[in-house]
Amino acid sequence: MEVYNYREIRTPVFEETALFERGIGEQTDIVGKEMYTFSDKSGTSITLKPEMTAGVMRSYIQNNLGEQQPLVKVYYIAPMFRQERPQAGRMRQFHQFGAEAIGGLNPAIDAEIIALSLEVYRSLGIKNFELRINSVGCALCRSKYRDALQKYLYPHLEKLTEESRKRFETNPFRILDSKDEEDRVITKDAPLMKDHLCPACAEHFTGLQKYLTLLDIDFLVDGRIVRGLDYYTKTAYEIISKDLGSQDALAGGGRYDLLVQELGGKQTPSVGFAAGLERLLMVMEKQKLNIGPAPSPRVFIIAADDGGRQWSLTKAIEMRRRGISCDIDFVERSVKSQMREADRQQAEYVIVIGEDEINRRQVRIKNMVDGSEEVVGFDRIIDYLLSDGDRGEKGKTS
Ligand code: HAM
Repeated sequence: MEVYNYREIRTPVFEETALFERGIGEQTDIVGKEMYTFSDKSGTSITLKPEMTAGVMRSYIQNNLGEQQPLVKVYYIAPMFRQERPQAGRMRQFHQFGAEAIGGLNPAIDAEIIALSLEVYRSLGIKNFELRINSVGCALCRSKYRDALQKYLYPHLEKLTEESRKRFETNPFRILDSKDEEDRVITKDAPLMKDHLCPACAEHFTGLQKYLTLLDIDFLVDGRIVRGLDYYTKTAYEIISKDLGSQDALAGGGRYDLLVQELGGKQTPSVGFAAGLERLLMVMEKQKLNIGPAPSPRVFIIAADDGGRQWSLTKAIEMRRRGISCDIDFVERSVKSQMREADRQQAEYVIVIGEDEINRRQVRIKNMVDGSEEVVGFDRIIDYLLSDGDRGEKGKTS
């Protein structure tokens, strides 16, 4: 995120419920069924955030973030809460990482957001994922399209699932992404938004595809990507993985040109995405990708007696102040079992300290990677560890 020049934003875990109702839309599943909503002691209705975009826009307006620059680029990694039926890839508390570019209309920004989200998967070595893009139009073209879609669906109303029948009035677009077989047969030839765009939205969508092609990004235009949040205008996209079960979206996002205005700010066209962290890990596990080594201390100091314990306590703090990660024994283990612990933690260096070493004012520093040992005077220990790190011989830093 930072190499793309996005800066971190942290918003509160809960917001006033009205923010999500207005932002995400009262007719959506998230607001209608999935929010964790409580009253606080003053009777204000608050909700654990089910997504970040609404909270980020609230903060953008309240803190005048757009004052200094026309385009504000932020990213986040945070826990989200949705009261859904738990299943593989769907948790009630999960984590999202995502980014929002607030204040630009050019489809080049949509392309950057899409490129950034794809880059995360590419850089981790993930395979078998697919980018699907769509345009959900603007207020102008959507209302005309809504009429066309309802007209098409009306004769089939009785045959639609109960859920889709309910959506016919409130949010007919969502009928297009129903997972039900019969619904899918009925909607097979339904009109799609992408074929009913007004000239401005059509131009934007063509522009986006041009930029994606320029960036050599493969994509599929999928007229059924409608997204489950109401704030989208123009671009909507998802990244799908075949290595996930029925919850197959790794990430989703798009443009929301009217949201800031709807929340009380100035009209501020924006685009962003969010991705499920747990789903990312599920795919990495399935594809047997290395999640990376567990962090290990650079040095483990082994105390042979009480004097050694005192020395290790003060020396450890001195080392840490100099940026050398290290640990010591706090549970009075034998030298042998401290050695095992250092090994288990994959410490790069081990120092054994007791009365003998204290009297001689020198220690033996053992390099656990290549097995070599060196006797080092007390006053040179830190320099020894630091200079070795600088040479980078072991390829490992604190
Ligand atoms: P969303 O599609 O609702 O979009 O969520 C984005 C991603 O979060 C999903 O693709 C999925 O990977 C993950 N996710 C959602 N619900 C769950 C769950 N219950 N358990 C595990 N993972 C889940 C948004 O939230 C929008 N705010 C994205 C956005 C940002 N649009 C513009 N800017």
